[in-house]
Amino acid sequence: MKILGISGSPRKGQNCEKMIASALEIAKERGFETDTIFLSNKEISPCKVCGACIEKDSCVIDDGMDEVYEKMRAADGIIVASPVYMGNYPAQLKALFDRSVLLRRKNFALKNKVGAALSVGGSRNGGQEKTIQSIHDWMHIQGMIVVGDNAHFGGITWNPAEEDSIGMQTVSETAKKLCEVVELIRKNVK
Ligand SMILES: Cc1cc2nc3c(=O)[nH]c(=O)nc-3n(C[C@H](O)[C@H](O)[C@H](O)COP(=O)(O)O)c2cc1C
Repeated sequence: MKILGISGSPRKGQNCEKMIASALEIAKERGFETDTIFLSNKEISPCKVCGACIEKDSCVIDDGMDEVYEKMRAADGIIVASPVYMGNYPAQLKALFDRSVLLRRKNFALKNKVGAALSVGGSRNGGQEKTIQSIHDWMHIQGMIVVGDNAHFGGITWNPAEEDSIGMQTVSETAKKLCEVVELIRKNVK
């Protein structure tokens, strides 16, 4: 069983990547394999709406999305961490989500994978809940099963996340819930 952690921040080693590391640590402790996609080391271009992926299995833009598609296909659970930019997730993450339309066109390749979201803002209430909701929208559009932190919507922190102990608790609870639901599904599908 594998959990993929996606960080939507263009900043290397900052809050989103730390939140993903912390979530994946929990997954590893429960025996999951883990993998990551960090947008701090990838430049994903926006979709050109050329329509080529309706027919083919690949995208005409050669920028590393093929690796993203492979990692998403291989995952049982996907956890996405995003900064809040102007009240929602940044353009870098939007580009990745839009380009993932290819997987939707391949017989809903992400269908029934479990998804969860984390968000960090520079303000305590800077739009983290809305950002999480927008990430959930993407997951629903892909036919995924969406989970929160077993109480509310997901992991919500305030920069610097590592000093926000209550926020980091919601990150841990979200990771646990994600693992729990993947485990439940696997147990019943066997
Ligand atoms: C262009 C831009 C817009 C931002 N807008 C918001 C915002 O609306 N609300 C908020 O709480 N923080 C906002 N921030 C602050 C970031 O969400 C915050 O610095 C966050 O920690 C960045 O995540 P990272 O540390 O993983 O890169 C904004 C930052 C930038 C660069």
